[in-house]
Amino acid sequence: MPIKIKKVKFLKSASSVSGFPQYSYPEFAFMGRSNVGKSSLINMVTGQKSLVKVGSKPGVTKTINFFLLNDKISLADLPGFGYAKLPGNIRKTFLPLIKDYIKIRDNLKLGFLLVDIRREPAGFEKDIITFLSEEEIPTAIIATKCDKLSKNKIMHSVKTIAVNLEIDAESIFVTSSHSGLGRNEMLNLIEEYS
Ligand code: GTP
Ligand code: MG
Repeated sequence: MPIKIKKVKFLKSASSVSGFPQYSYPEFAFMGRSNVGKSSLINMVTGQKSLVKVGSKPGVTKTINFFLLNDKISLADLPGFGYAKLPGNIRKTFLPLIKDYIKIRDNLKLGFLLVDIRREPAGFEKDIITFLSEEEIPTAIIATKCDKLSKNKIMHSVKTIAVNLEIDAESIFVTSSHSGLGRNEMLNLIEEYS
């Protein structure tokens, strides 16, 4: 049985390490390119309509936003990387912030690395996987926006992503924030790694 969400609250935003909340609750990070659907997925997983602001324009999340579930599980929404239309100085600050976050965050239990089901992962995703594995933090690959493709195409894309990232296709989670696909599986992961 996946955990029941009784209470969800937004805690704070941080644009540098000094702003991170100081607690030891198990934490789960949502990472991925800008516009991949991180904020939408947090809303979907927590069962909230608009806990997190979702972008009509990409590049909405510019800080790390922390949320608390049931007063004991922490979720971190990380800024998206690589949205070309953001000014270069903003774009460039994100990767070091994400890297610092992964390095310093002792309570980080699992990284959710989001990949759009219609895109092939590239350098950014590989960098994140490397940062996480250097810190020995488990990673779950989450394919997003699966409502956009047919079942057959999803299977095909999952295989492509798996080959690209050199992981098992079975270890990729198929999700859709619009349909709720994959919600229980993600809640189970959160429970398992808490
Ligand atoms: P940044 O904060 O810019 O890094 O983006 P993000 O990764 O938080 O993405 P966000 O949740 O803001 O979603 C970006 C766009 O994708 C929005 O227009 C969403 O409505 C759309 N979107 C997110 N998830 C899904 C999904 O599961 N299916 C579909 N069809 N669209 C989605
Ligand atoms: Mg966002």
